[in-house]
Amino acid sequence: MTLANKRILLGVTGSIAAYKSAELARRLREAGAEVQVVMTRGGAEFITPLTLQALSGRPVFLHHLDAETEAAMGHISLARWADLVLIAPASADFLARLAQGRADDLLATLCLACDGPLAVAPAMNRQMWAQASTQDNMRLLRERGVHVFGPGSGDQACGENGPGRMLEPREIAEQSAALFDSGLLQGRRVLISAGPTREDIDAVRYISNRSSGKMGFAIAQAAVEAGARVTLVAGPVALQAPERVRRIDVRSAAEMREAVLGRMEGQDIFIAAAAVADYRVARPAAGKVKKQARLILELERNPDILRAVTALPVPPFTVGFAAETENVAAYARAKLRDKALDMIVANEVGRHDRGFDSDDNELLVLWKGGEKSLPLGPKGRLARELITLIAERYGAKDTA
Ligand code: PMT
Repeated sequence: MTLANKRILLGVTGSIAAYKSAELARRLREAGAEVQVVMTRGGAEFITPLTLQALSGRPVFLHHLDAETEAAMGHISLARWADLVLIAPASADFLARLAQGRADDLLATLCLACDGPLAVAPAMNRQMWAQASTQDNMRLLRERGVHVFGPGSGDQACGENGPGRMLEPREIAEQSAALFDSGLLQGRRVLISAGPTREDIDAVRYISNRSSGKMGFAIAQAAVEAGARVTLVAGPVALQAPERVRRIDVRSAAEMREAVLGRMEGQDIFIAAAAVADYRVARPAAGKVKKQARLILELERNPDILRAVTALPVPPFTVGFAAETENVAAYARAKLRDKALDMIVANEVGRHDRGFDSDDNELLVLWKGGEKSLPLGPKGRLARELITLIAERYGAKDTA
């Protein structure tokens, strides 16, 4: 089980099972997730925010919708931050408020503002669980796509026995991890390029760009979760490769080209998220160039890796990226056509809140005969949405 690089917003509501949230926070973190706890007023009656702060490693947000909380991280930002909103324990009262779409405290409000996955682990007395009103609420929530973990059955804190117990933290953590395993690319071989390239000027200087590799690494993670066998060709970045990914480190565009083309045989899909330098220095110096009044560098074009891939006798399903500062859709559509791609992912660059070296991005995905906008959000979530789209289009091409 892994929750590597996942951001989980753990909502704790008023139930005796709230004491188990402490172990849940610990298990989620052990599995690799970042955990942000938000408590309702009732939740804070059962377990102290300090305990959850210690185990989650982050300050806990409480029930208020006030200026202080909003200044730290507003409810909209919190909802956007999370890859998964997990309410455990979810009391009968909170489930009723969720079903009604109430926004009367911070946790309920951010659930309303959340457009990603939402899961609840109900915890209540068996009679409260069996009640028609609770069951109606659960039906409504399931119909709306809320994931329901449990409840389990057994001895209850009130001395009764029956269904309504919150699942054990281990089971909740496992079911949370399973939500990210889509299996959409089961057994497919996917090669991804990520990060910048460095083009040497001399022994100590180089030309490069601001790519951090975050977008490409997030795509590699999403592809693994979709069941693919992933090779990641990475330029120089300060990131850890996701588990189960074969990573090949390269430095220059020439090295990236060799690494990509040399491993292309048998690949089903190629995703080119790397920001490959378009130019390299024509004659890099072997030593360190001495300071001089003016230094003129002659640059020559680097070969285009994407074009080389789509020109192969049997090219894989090929997805290019387009980094543009203006006319994003038009320039991207031209690249889709000119480079004979199956799909292109356009993003606006040159803005501080998206694109290069940011945790967030906004994507416009184009293919022959279709397009889809993926609104501004964390790169992890966008990567999963992108992999879903790629799997759909790849499947459509495969059966055409
Ligand atoms: O790494 P991050 O900080 O997370 O930032 C992500 C990103 C902005 C780098 C990423 O989302 C992105 O846009 N990557 C492509 C950047 C780019 O080089 O775009 P381009 O429009 O210049 O190139 C078009 C496509 O051709 C790209 O798929 C690129 O990999 C490919 N290319 C470019 C030049 C070259 N010599 N060979 C290529 O294959």
